[in-house]
Amino acid sequence: MIDRDSAQQAILESFKHELLENSLLNQPAQEFVEGALQKINEKNGSTHHRSKVKQLLHKLLKYSDATKHEVYFQSVGTVQHIGNGVATLSGLPTVRLEELVNFPNGVQGMVLNLDRRHADVILLGSDQGIRGGDLALATGKRLSIPVGFELLGRVVDPLGKPLDEMGVINPSEFRYIERIAPGVIERAPVNEPLYSGTKIIDALIPLGRGQRELIMGDHQTGKTTLALDAILSQRNSDVKCVYVAVAQKSTSIISTLQTLRAGGVLSKTVVIVSGPDDPPALRYLAPYAGVTIAEFFLDQGMDTLIVYDDLTKHAESYRELSLLLRRPPGREAYPGDIFYLHARLLERACKLDPRHGGGSITALPIVTTQKGNISGYIPTNLISITDGQIMLDIDLFNKGIKPAIDIGRSVSRVGGSAQEPALKSLVGPLKLELSQYEEVNRFARFGTDVNESTRRQIERGRRLESLLMQKPHDPVPFIDQVILFFALTSNYMDAVKVEDVPHFADELLSFVNMHESRLVDSIKHKRVLDDQMIENLHEVLSEFEKLWLEKNRGGE
Ligand SMILES: Nc1ncnc2c1ncn2[C@@H]1O[C@H](COP(=O)(O)OP(=O)(O)OP(=O)(O)O)[C@@H](O)[C@H]1O
Ligand SMILES: [Mg+2]
Repeated sequence: MIDRDSAQQAILESFKHELLENSLLNQPAQEFVEGALQKINEKNGSTHHRSKVKQLLHKLLKYSDATKHEVYFQSVGTVQHIGNGVATLSGLPTVRLEELVNFPNGVQGMVLNLDRRHADVILLGSDQGIRGGDLALATGKRLSIPVGFELLGRVVDPLGKPLDEMGVINPSEFRYIERIAPGVIERAPVNEPLYSGTKIIDALIPLGRGQRELIMGDHQTGKTTLALDAILSQRNSDVKCVYVAVAQKSTSIISTLQTLRAGGVLSKTVVIVSGPDDPPALRYLAPYAGVTIAEFFLDQGMDTLIVYDDLTKHAESYRELSLLLRRPPGREAYPGDIFYLHARLLERACKLDPRHGGGSITALPIVTTQKGNISGYIPTNLISITDGQIMLDIDLFNKGIKPAIDIGRSVSRVGGSAQEPALKSLVGPLKLELSQYEEVNRFARFGTDVNESTRRQIERGRRLESLLMQKPHDPVPFIDQVILFFALTSNYMDAVKVEDVPHFADELLSFVNMHESRLVDSIKHKRVLDDQMIENLHEVLSEFEKLWLEKNRGGE
């Protein structure tokens, strides 16, 4: 097989040689002057004129001696086709994949496809002003973006250019946006919890650092809210966050930024924004830029949480690019390598072995489903790539059960081993209890007579359901979850009316945090409930229950 690059290099080298040998510039200068003078003599006899020309030639000669002549070679391509953010170029003999190409309007492009005659380039800016026949220069450089601590608290585009008004970013380094994911040997099992701040997730589908958990649901079912709450929940933790917005409306991005700022987490978050009218290349590159920035923190041995909001739009952007580049469409018109694209991205989320720094990247990709259909091409791909999924249900959402997590269809495959003992000891049977309640409740709704034990099951289930509800952007810390689930599973909520459960929970938390700060601190530090702590918890809960019942009876 012919090595195309080296063959072309050889042709260029011989061409350069030939040019140098035959060049006027290579002719000895004196020879050139004499020759010129002779020609002038032949044509013009006037001595005055001759000396003037001689002077001029000497001047030129001096100037030429002072100037260094070099022959430059550039890989140049011609625009054959341009439009919709993609260009097809001919020429460019030595260009490589992912190489940057400069267009005459100052915009850069990245080579996405190569074949023998053409290179397909995706534009990283506007295609306005580029015309067919324009020359484009290969730069010999691959696309790299700024990474570093300087990006924390900043809003940038997928190329790392600031979009906020906080000035230029002086990054610690630049990195290529593609990197091979860590191999098996460098990885460690997921064994440290990552609190999402959402009770139902932390209790029933717990997440671990280094896990990839898919958030899926129909349009407007609270997907972004869950992911943002997970970021807000890192306010007092050591986890750095990256939020990648793919093709999101400016209004959604503004409200996201407001939420992060109000929650005091913007300073430890990098926000990467690509809008719906950005070139498709930027929308396609956004998640890779996000993970590249997260990898910088990973390499410092830190834990990072990255949210991709959302990968449906990412897949659509890639489909758009691929169709424009006339690649053959596959299932649902997506190109065949879309699975590889997402697998390559999500494999970069990992938990590293302590010998390799011990850092982690936890990924929360989001995917939008149509009418709860999880068998679409992109959702099924992502389910099989990730370590579990949180399924949001539109019916639950419309019924007012928020977060609308369908517990029967949600799973966390690795997070269980990362759940801390204090919480694990309390919530073990709850998942089953909740599923059974949902099942039994469906029958009870038709007015069927139910026996005593089923009625009790329904009552408990209703309290559990009510306890698991949560307002948006109000993450519940670990210690508060332990107290609440302890109260529920030790039957302290049985005498509380279902509609009063949220109020009871609020008051209980302020009571315990105020009166039993020593107990709270020891649970926080030991992360296990020992016999002494359990006894103390029973004491404080009995006291609170008595006070609550007295107060509420008084009110009746
Ligand atoms: N736990 C909750 N309690 C009350 N309201 C909620 C809750 N979670 C989400 N919402 C509300 O539901 C609406 C949709 O939420 P969100 O934007 O998170 O949904 P989404 O699934 O990301 O939507 P999209 O598909 O448009 O991205 C918002 O107005 C939000 O405030
Ligand atoms: Mg959303």
